[in-house]
Amino acid sequence: MARAVLEALPDAHWMARAPGRVNLIGEHTDYNGFPVLPLALDRAAWIAAAPRTEPIVRIRSVDAARWPEEEIALRDLASRVRRGSWVDYVVAGLRTAPPAHGLELVVGSDVPVAAGLSSSAALVVAALLLAQPARSRVELAELAARAEQYVGTHSGGMDQAISLLARAGHALRIDFRPLRTRAVALPPDLVVLVAPSGVLAEKGGAAQAAYNQRVAECARAAGSLGAPVGGLLADVPGERRAERAASLGEALLARRARFVFEEARRVDEAERCLARGDIEGLGALLDASHAGLRDLYEVSHPVVDALVAELRTCGARGARIVGAGFGGCAVAVARRSDVDAIRARCSRELWTFVPGGPAERFALER
Ligand code: GLA
Repeated sequence: MARAVLEALPDAHWMARAPGRVNLIGEHTDYNGFPVLPLALDRAAWIAAAPRTEPIVRIRSVDAARWPEEEIALRDLASRVRRGSWVDYVVAGLRTAPPAHGLELVVGSDVPVAAGLSSSAALVVAALLLAQPARSRVELAELAARAEQYVGTHSGGMDQAISLLARAGHALRIDFRPLRTRAVALPPDLVVLVAPSGVLAEKGGAAQAAYNQRVAECARAAGSLGAPVGGLLADVPGERRAERAASLGEALLARRARFVFEEARRVDEAERCLARGDIEGLGALLDASHAGLRDLYEVSHPVVDALVAELRTCGARGARIVGAGFGGCAVAVARRSDVDAIRARCSRELWTFVPGGPAERFALER
């Protein structure tokens, strides 16, 4: 992909790369102030840039038929209103420090789109790396999370942080407020499988509204459970929060808060499972996460539910919907020795993520 981008912009002066991610566990916890446990894929967005004398920023894709280009006058870049197009994500990163001169940008990405694998944050991060190359990665991660709000989704900071701070062969435990990370080694016997459901997990439209609605519901639940004004579910004081959440008067808020508290606990448990190489235990946590996302948080999709069930039947130790939800991929964990059998049994395409040093790869395989 890097080559295709450079061929499309032979006089490029700068180039940035930002990977997508698969989240092992800790879904919809980030914007509630709780940790997440994702890993970066070796699929990434690339943006090359070349200076131009005209005061224009031209943004185009290597796949121009699918992703139409846009030209923005330099003086309008910072005030450009979002249009619901792919260019919004590039602008989100660029407008944090608008360039002083014209630019031509060429974008390419092999992160599957609308799959729950963070193709959009990869664009924001790559653009931000071009706009502010001198900043530290932690600063950029904080900045990128705020920058992406421009697109209208009230998302948390997971996708940007893993894209900027991932370490090969490791998952990353990410805590927020302030941003802190801890690399978590993956057991040598673990293989992470990603299976696309074929249902697009769009970031705009109804899915965006449903996501933002969850953010608002959690904020209301936090207030009802005693968090200070403007606080998050992580600010709710006291032990046994999940149990207290279950008794909230408004049943919908009770379901949302219960899921988030339980999912946050699962992140801690998953980290312990990884440390002791307990793939069965990790799988059980993924299964529980999926059940919660489906029944309590209500962000799954029947096609993904069926896919998750199939992955389990085929020999995965646990599986769940990944990312914001409403479609996209399932993530599953398996023992290395079971992967061939799973692939043979499963009716679906399977992407295998095999962590570990130079052999790390994310292969699209059947
Ligand atoms: C999207 C958001 C993230 C996170 C996930 C759900 O990917 O961008 O911040 O909230 O959904 O875990």
